[in-house]
Order: sequence, then C-alpha cells, then structure tokens
Amino acid sequence: MIKKCLFPAAGYGTRFLPATKSMPKEMMPVVNKPLIEYGVDEAIQAGMDGMCIVTGRGKHSIMDHFDINYELEHQIQGSNKEALLGDIREIMKSTNFTFIRQREMKGLGHAILTGKELVGDEPFAVVLADDLCVNPDEGVLSQMVKLFKQFRCTIVAVQEVPKEDIHKYGVISGEMIKDDLYRVDDMVEKPKPGTEPSNLAIIGRYILTPDIFDLIEQTEPGLGGEIQITDALLKQAKAGCVLAYKFKGKRFDCGSVEGYIEATNYCYEHMYKANTKKVELDKHSTRKSS
Ligand code: UTP
Repeated sequence: MIKKCLFPAAGYGTRFLPATKSMPKEMMPVVNKPLIEYGVDEAIQAGMDGMCIVTGRGKHSIMDHFDINYELEHQIQGSNKEALLGDIREIMKSTNFTFIRQREMKGLGHAILTGKELVGDEPFAVVLADDLCVNPDEGVLSQMVKLFKQFRCTIVAVQEVPKEDIHKYGVISGEMIKDDLYRVDDMVEKPKPGTEPSNLAIIGRYILTPDIFDLIEQTEPGLGGEIQITDALLKQAKAGCVLAYKFKGKRFDCGSVEGYIEATNYCYEHMYKANTKKVELDKHSTRKSS
C-alpha cells in the first residue's frame, strides 16, 4: 500500500569529517555494503519499490551505486566475484530509483519537501540512512507499515534514550494507546536539558501522509535556521493525529563515529559472518551430495 520510500541524503555529514569531505555519509560502508543499501533493503522488505533519493552536491556516487557499471560487470563476468554483486543486481531489478537535488541545505523538513515531486500525493516512508535499524524477524519499516494499515495516519519511530543524550533528538510526549504506541501531543526539537517532554526520541524512520508537504511549506525556519520536520509534525499532531511507535529492533546512529563502529561490529558478527558460514555450509553439502 505504501510503495515509495524517500531518502533525504543531502546533508553534509560534518560529524564524520574528514571522511565525508568528498564522500557522501550514506555511502560509508558498514562491512561491505554502503549504509544507504541497508535502508533500501529495509524498504523493499516492507513492500516498497520506489526509492526516491534527495541528493546534494558531491553525492554522485549514490546514483552510480544504484546503476550498472558496465566495465566492472564485464571484468568479473563468469568469475566467482560475480556473486558479490547478486544483492545489488536484485535491488536494481525489483525497484525504481528517482533522484532530486536539494540545492541549499535548509534542514530535514526542507529536504522532505524537496522530495514532494518524486513522492506525489500518497502516503510514503522516510528513511534516514545514517540510522541503521536491524531486526531479524521483521524490519522496522515493515512494523510501521502494518500499523499504518490499521491507523492510516503519520507514524514516527521512537526509541528510549538516556537523559544525557536526549538533547540531540526530536522528543515526543503523548498518551500510550496500546503497547509501544503513543498518540503524540507534544514534540520538541533538541530540547534544552531539563525541558525534555519525555525520554522518547524520534529516530530516522517515518511514515508520512502527504498533507505533511503543505504543513512544511507553512513552517518557518526553526532551530539553527533550518526547516524542522518536528515543527511540521507537531502541527499535524495538533490538527489530526500523529502516532509514535517504539519499534522492535536495534538502531545504530551511524552519523556518529561510536555508532558506526558498533554497527560495523554487529553487522560483521550477525550478518556478514553468519552469511559467509551459511554459504560455506551450502557449498559443503552440495559437494557431498554430488
Ligand atoms: P543530520 O542532522 O544527521 O545532518 O541530518 P547531516 O548533515 O547529515 O550530518 P551532521 O550532523 O552534519 O554530521 C539528518 C538527515 O537529514 C538529511 C541528512 O542527509 C541526514 O540523512 N538532510 C539534512 C538533508 O538531506 N538535507 C538537509 O538540509 C539536512
């Protein structure tokens, strides 16, 4: 039902300088896969096939990654290296990528508004690729799509965050309407210590209804002179309904060095190594049976 996923990927990634001086943060590899591909996998798992990417200057490699590289394909054709391109080939077969450029970095709200032309007039998902979310049974976006089918309104993913870190996030408060689900009544972007409405921080997964675009258009620049998505979401919550969902799974803040290292270790142990072992076992059993 939700077919499109928007990836705002125009930010400067200053926390990762100098690595992000000429390389997009979204292309930083976690083990052997760029961050944005994890987000695309999650969107596909949730049933989406339209990936809409908001890029900026110096972000060409994102477009190249989701395109054919004829020279490389030719070089490795027929070799055992071809298998390494299996996943990305599948992605390119099953999904459509569209791109638009955000010319001025005026904040996440503005980046989402820039994606309006790609998304159109339908509910859509948003993934901030630097938040890497994993849940072996069901991805976070899949969990949110299920809720959307039931409630048909905007849903933001939230996570409990320790007091000393809460000032880095958009923070919600609201009434719990069922396990792990809140009806939002307030939202503050990066609250000053002592003013935070709860310990529930918004992380980089959203399902948005398309009326959000008008609300962003009516939103004046807020904190840091940026157009904040939280300001538009608060208007939406006051006028109708916004839900906050405490998702099942792990989330790594790959926009920070610590989070990125944690994600790398986790993905190496639980995904890469586990997969390699499975491939080895499969090979072994095929050899035995032949
Ligand atoms: P961040 O707040 O993480 O900013 O943006 P950033 O520039 O990427 O990173 P730092 O803080 O300087 O290290 C959250 C998401 O919103 C996108 C970013 O690409 C990231 O995915 N974004 C932010 C835009 O696309 N455009 C903007 O103007 C701002």
